[in-house]
Amino acid sequence: MPYDLVIVANRLPVDRVTQPDGSSGWRTSPGGLVTAIEPVMRANDGVWIGWPGGTEEGLEPFEHDGLELVPMSMTQADIEGFYEGFSNGTLWPLYHDLVAKPEFHREWWDSYVHVNQRFAEKAASLAAEDATVWVHDYQLQLVPQMLRTLRPDLRIGFYLHIPFPPAELFQQLPWRRQLLEGLLGADLVGFQLPGAAQNFVRLVRQRVGHKTHRDLVYLPDGRTVRASPFPISIDAAGFEEMARSEPVVARAAEIREALGDPRKVFLGIDRLDYTKGIFARLRAYAELIEDGQLDVEDAVFVQVAVPSREQVEEYRILRDEIDRLVGRINGDLGRIGRPAISYLHSSYPREEMAALYTAADVMVVTPYRDGMNLVAKEYVACRYDNDGALVLSEFAGAADELRQAWLVNPYDINGMKSALLEAFNAEPRETTRRMKAMRKTVTQHDVAAWAASFMSELSDVGTHGKAVKPARRS
Ligand code: G6P
Repeated sequence: MPYDLVIVANRLPVDRVTQPDGSSGWRTSPGGLVTAIEPVMRANDGVWIGWPGGTEEGLEPFEHDGLELVPMSMTQADIEGFYEGFSNGTLWPLYHDLVAKPEFHREWWDSYVHVNQRFAEKAASLAAEDATVWVHDYQLQLVPQMLRTLRPDLRIGFYLHIPFPPAELFQQLPWRRQLLEGLLGADLVGFQLPGAAQNFVRLVRQRVGHKTHRDLVYLPDGRTVRASPFPISIDAAGFEEMARSEPVVARAAEIREALGDPRKVFLGIDRLDYTKGIFARLRAYAELIEDGQLDVEDAVFVQVAVPSREQVEEYRILRDEIDRLVGRINGDLGRIGRPAISYLHSSYPREEMAALYTAADVMVVTPYRDGMNLVAKEYVACRYDNDGALVLSEFAGAADELRQAWLVNPYDINGMKSALLEAFNAEPRETTRRMKAMRKTVTQHDVAAWAASFMSELSDVGTHGKAVKPARRS
């Protein structure tokens, strides 16, 4: 059946999992993308194309929780070349300020082209005449152009969930021009921050030679492409409702008790990724204990590291480094029944995350570079009593909006130590003042507003396709 709205993302909103009894089932995949897109999908009876994880072949389209999903299969070679290779070994570190060294391999690029082509063909086969296709993230930057070649009638939007690097870094890519041209297949290219959109327009002018004016690119065929910022957000009301629910309140109390009822709880929740600055933050915390500025009887640090991309070498190395660091800190600084760090390498359902946010006095989010960081916003959404302190990296997109956080430079360990201590010792009047202001931002700019503004902008630009209904505000 042809669809008026097609969502194309590397991942489906659900992952294929094997149950303990050996049967197969589906589990909601982690990440904010699902909650972000769901409202628009429902309002438009859309379809979602993506990879369900693994190498299973011949999966049929199916419905899950009222959403139409079309699984794309990947071979082991696709996973190694396209996913682990070009997406996560080349683009991910390059787009995150070279926090790790990107590798450039021609076979990875070939695989990236091949998989993007398959996604484009699938989208082309499912889209109705004049339909809207919304393509997501760095794994699929060639899809807009490939799709336009196959289906010039479509209205095409692209959204990049991660940072878009400055020209000086992007230029290293041997395939820089192809990627820019891939994105220019869209009518609207959305970024998290204004600076990213500007980087893109500048690169297009310099590298592809198209005329540009502010956020518009003029193509020789008469088409215009708009590049604009759309800072992504969360379902703020949903998180608050969860945080207020009786089971979550009870679970939060249970967590504090299990931690030995310390005076204050610090919390970090991240995918286990080298961009997140987990190592540096734990070191800063440990030094505060060593210096005698914090005491393990008073404070505990809960660090949740969600397993991620475990086949990629850099991620394995990081895991080992953090394991060793946590072991050393607890060995040196912990006391019986009082570890300095309570470290969990696991993923948790949203309710458990809400309970952790509720239990935490100081939330610590210190990435070296991050497109947005939804954890920071989720914490704020859960603090309906206007208490709790947020320590936030200047280099997370969220810092543009959450100005009242204790902002830190994660490369500056002493600066981080001061901020952790200030947040720990802050007077309630001070934390309330800051939290109130941040809550206003997060509740006003929620994910429904984000999706609606992207969709309405997409309906306005270009000369292609039918308009799509914005999602109803919840
Ligand atoms: C980031 C990316 C997403 C990605 C997610 C999880 O948020 O922007 O595109 O899906 O990480 O990573 P994974 O490699 O497991 O899909």
